[in-house]
Amino acid sequence: MSLKFKVIAGFFMSFSIVLGACSGNAKSEKTAMNESFVPGELWYDADSVHINAHGGGVLYHEGTYYWFGEHKTSGRGGNTSLLGLRCYSSDDLYNWKNEGIALASVDDPESEITHGCVMERPKVIYNETTKQFVMWFHLELKGQGYAAARTGLAVSDKVTGPYTFVKSSRVNANVWPIEATTEMKNCSGETKHDWWTQEWRKEVNKGLFVARDLDSGQMSRDMTLFVDDDGTAYHIHSAEENLTLHIAELTPDYKDFTGKWTRVAPGGHNEAPALFKYKGKYYMIASGCTGWDPNEARILVADSIWGPWEYKGNPCKGKDANLTFHSQSTFVLPVAGKENAFIFMGDRWRPRNPIDGRYVWLPITFEDDQPAIEWHKQWDLSVFNSEI
Ligand code: DGJ
Repeated sequence: MSLKFKVIAGFFMSFSIVLGACSGNAKSEKTAMNESFVPGELWYDADSVHINAHGGGVLYHEGTYYWFGEHKTSGRGGNTSLLGLRCYSSDDLYNWKNEGIALASVDDPESEITHGCVMERPKVIYNETTKQFVMWFHLELKGQGYAAARTGLAVSDKVTGPYTFVKSSRVNANVWPIEATTEMKNCSGETKHDWWTQEWRKEVNKGLFVARDLDSGQMSRDMTLFVDDDGTAYHIHSAEENLTLHIAELTPDYKDFTGKWTRVAPGGHNEAPALFKYKGKYYMIASGCTGWDPNEARILVADSIWGPWEYKGNPCKGKDANLTFHSQSTFVLPVAGKENAFIFMGDRWRPRNPIDGRYVWLPITFEDDQPAIEWHKQWDLSVFNSEI
């Protein structure tokens, strides 16, 4: 299949960027098929419009890749949902066709997904038993900033949608994590200490916010999904005021939580989780918490999804590695038909004009089984040379 991320040099590139900013990032002419990835540049779909699928995830289904992401609009406020979550399809990962809005926000002030809510980081998985496509996404209720911290569920019988919104909630109300100690269970959920003091941090690490949020359910902001080799799916989310990641097992139909869950790196202040499995080990790339600004990625590794998870430093190498090459993780994409071929997917946010956000996709390499991500101005799938 031929390819499509076009490298536009010199004057023509500058002209395109100016044109894109004015016109919703549409190009004035059809581009040739892309043959490589150009991280951080404008990525045009088959209609010559900059791809609008931020905070995304990719599902590979029956020979086609489906990229789901946040449809952002221009100008300040462009992060709230005015349309919903968009889907693109591709046979080769370079050339993407706009499949339209997969899950629409609605013109109903009573709905949890009314226009103006925040819908972020959608991930879709396919359930072999029910034959349903199951989408989970981070939902913030309209007018409440990031206080609601909920996860939303939508389903469809067709991969591209339309998806039907089912519900939103916090996670695993009234259930303690598998490792809960008596001390955690006896915690009142209230602190007398000032936030960010050493005493307060110790309490957080021991489960202060787990106890506080027990009745309502645990907070769920940045999230991802991961399906293990045995078909069991997991919802991984930033909880406890973004201080601790949680991994929660989904029911066999992927539409609810089983109640089995664990905390990862308590007090580590991690968000933007992206999981993958390599040679039987679980790896999770995450970011720190600096809003829309980039920070240093970190990777954790575990022999079991239930931990223990161990920090293994920053997987990014070289110039700007301390800023994840000016991006933030959203997903790790296993390349179909290639052995141990994984693509790091990150977002370069543009909060003043969210529609202009860029995509930073880079190959993950392994040095002594330690994942590494290096900057490539331009690259293609030939970097992964072993076919399955
Ligand atoms: C960082 C998160 O990773 C994004 O998805 C978004 O929620 C922003 N924070 C909001 O500030």
